[in-house]
Amino acid sequence: MPVPGVSWEDHADLVVVGGGVAGLTAARTASLRGLRVLTVSKNGPLDTATQFAQGGIAVVDGHDPFDTVASHVADTCAAGVGLCDEDAVRSIVAAGRGAVANLTELGAVFDRGRDGNIAHTREGGHSARRIVHAGGDATGAEVQRVSAADQNVLFDTMAVRVLTGVAGVSGLLVSSQRGLGVIHAPAVLLATGGLGQLYSCSTNPSGATADGIALALATGADIADLEFVQFHPTVLFAADGVGRRPLISEAVRGEGAVLVDDDGKSVTAGVHPLGDLAPRDVVSRAIAARLTASGADHVFLDARRINGFADRFPTITASCLDAGIDPRSQLIPVAPAAHYSCGGVVTDVHGRTTVPGLYAAGEVARTGLHGANRLASNSLLEGLVLGERVGIAAAERAEVRGEVTDVSVAPSWAAPRAVVQELMTKHASVIRDGDDLRGLRTALAARSAHSASTDPSVLEDSALTLTASAVALAADTRTESRGCHTRTDFPATSEDWRLSVRLRMRDGALEALERDRSDQPQLTGACP
Ligand code: SIN
Repeated sequence: MPVPGVSWEDHADLVVVGGGVAGLTAARTASLRGLRVLTVSKNGPLDTATQFAQGGIAVVDGHDPFDTVASHVADTCAAGVGLCDEDAVRSIVAAGRGAVANLTELGAVFDRGRDGNIAHTREGGHSARRIVHAGGDATGAEVQRVSAADQNVLFDTMAVRVLTGVAGVSGLLVSSQRGLGVIHAPAVLLATGGLGQLYSCSTNPSGATADGIALALATGADIADLEFVQFHPTVLFAADGVGRRPLISEAVRGEGAVLVDDDGKSVTAGVHPLGDLAPRDVVSRAIAARLTASGADHVFLDARRINGFADRFPTITASCLDAGIDPRSQLIPVAPAAHYSCGGVVTDVHGRTTVPGLYAAGEVARTGLHGANRLASNSLLEGLVLGERVGIAAAERAEVRGEVTDVSVAPSWAAPRAVVQELMTKHASVIRDGDDLRGLRTALAARSAHSASTDPSVLEDSALTLTASAVALAADTRTESRGCHTRTDFPATSEDWRLSVRLRMRDGALEALERDRSDQPQLTGACP
């Protein structure tokens, strides 16, 4: 029986939503295992966060006899400030070596040192040089190239709603140039990337509009740790710079650059034993504090001491030169900007969410790897590992066949993107307080309109509006400061808050779940 109200229908064992590393890895793995996979992406082939990733992939690959998986786990947990799920961390970090080997087998070319061996750099929070990179500072572009090779993706196809029935997921409603369509499938993977477009300045592409968070909430899945939005400390500053801004990779500090203020004084001296290579939340807060104290709107990265800068960092050099700055002879103006969502759709280490048949992987997922602050270069690693695992796990749904009956689109609230960005930047950036966060939610509600449109830009606005409310609710609920979440009204980190805030939609409203002890992350010796 054709589904009424749609222009076209298709069938798959797995629908992948998103064309970055996590989605493409899942699609490749599932296809190789004989599943029929359809991958949809709302944009074109290169508009993914993966494409723009610079630093690299953190991996313990045996090159350094003193580096160990346990040490990478400990660094990850230290950066995550007590909120990492250590079992998840160990599971994902330990799988990194195999994941990078798979990528190499597919043709990825990593940079090599003068000795001909794979080169490794260091980034904030890492106790060893364990970051492999490609094209100098273009690791993401290489990962995207290799992941996308020989894959079919339906571009310009936007996910509207995950369809469910008694057995869980039964398909995906999408909007494309062919009109509304239904893809019947027992498994849907959300690999939609992040939410950087909640803010006026971000390192994320324009498509990072939190679509996966909104789709998951509408499907009844749990979300957690959404208050932990990571601000990258060193994003190229311009007084009129909004939208996606060029990143100045942490690897630049890893190779010896230092952060200084207008007077040439170190920004991080005395703040953390790792100085400029402290975890990102620490460095972003140090910069924010220095800017508040000085009234300036940026600090500087001094990279002049790095030999061969342009060869090691060609993408960054080009971005700086475009902005009229030569990093070999001039200081680079930088300021923190939204970079990564540490929280997201709650999953296990195989990408399974709380809804049968719904999977999430990559930035949209919250596996427990990142806790309150993601460690540098753990994101491509997670996308590769979780992508492959979802590609395997999805086979468990291959025999499930649900029926699609209702393809109606429930009305949602949408404020224009620029309004959401203005409110979030003002009230929910690096430093927050409760009054601001509650005011933000009221202002969002006041400036939203009701809509049931399937127009992609309205769907994006609606995802941003719902997610902005969710970030504000989670941030207001967490009455402490920890990792990427700093509150002036609760400046201390509290032992009582060593747990995650979970969010869920009930009867069309967002709810923060009670602080449930059973939700407490597993804590053992490696987590300080
Ligand atoms: C960077 O190169 O600094 C970003 C890498 C990351 O976000 O992990």
